[in-house]
Amino acid sequence: MDIAAAPVAEPAADRRAARTRRYLMTTPTFFAVEYVINPWMDASTPVDTNLALAQWDALRRTYLDLGHRVEIIEPITGLPDMVYAANGGTIINGRAVVARFAHAERAGEAIAYARWMADNGYQPFETRHVNEGQGDFLAVGARILAGFGFRTDSRAHDEVADHVGMDVVSLELVDPRFYHLDTALAVLDDSTVAYYPPAFSDESRVVLERMFPDAIEVTSADAYVLGLNVVSDGRNVVLPAAATGFAEQLRLAGFRPVGVDLSELLKGGGSVKCCTLEVHS
Ligand code: ARG
Repeated sequence: MDIAAAPVAEPAADRRAARTRRYLMTTPTFFAVEYVINPWMDASTPVDTNLALAQWDALRRTYLDLGHRVEIIEPITGLPDMVYAANGGTIINGRAVVARFAHAERAGEAIAYARWMADNGYQPFETRHVNEGQGDFLAVGARILAGFGFRTDSRAHDEVADHVGMDVVSLELVDPRFYHLDTALAVLDDSTVAYYPPAFSDESRVVLERMFPDAIEVTSADAYVLGLNVVSDGRNVVLPAAATGFAEQLRLAGFRPVGVDLSELLKGGGSVKCCTLEVHS
């Protein structure tokens, strides 16, 4: 073998491989904080809807620049939280499960997501128990991690597992600030996650340690800016820009952090992942 042609060690940022993704997003035309259903929300804080729209659009363009496909769902007046598209359902393995929201204020959103599913060749399956879509159901390779404790009812975990034909691992959330699994845990690729241990019950922490011995554990500083609310394509990790410590951890692990500012959407208790429903192929 010609020594000169021998492969040179790749720089850390090139160790990971991206896969092209398909995302659904809902324009925050009617975004506001009009009611309080999580500890991040304060109805007396003014929201700048134009700024929310600009920040959201920058996120959309970030995905397009990374080569991903983005489809838009039209927002509905009177549903200010509809921008958090991740909660609309779970689409995986050729199956689609539409959300059944915990709070009446968001119930109407499910209709729009069910319609998208039906129009795009998926039969929207309705669970009997509360399930808040990809807020609480996160696919990691062939398995789904599912949160319960605040929103999604653990009985819906079995309904989803049966319907989509995948194993579901239940994880208990114990801190109301981290009320959806996607606020406490980030899926980085088919076998790598990052999480904030204090958001989980002791039992669930043991489960996570066993399943993911190499997981990245983030600090409170990063968790409290919703730093784990990220969207990864396996290499590029789009995350809240304020989560600088986590960005460094990602870099050291060979990922490429891409920071975005979604400060207006944080006022509703959501960030990057909340605004993004991935259609898993
Ligand atoms: N205000 C919304 C709620 O409390 C925020 C949802 C955030 N979405 C998420 N996937 N964590 O329901």
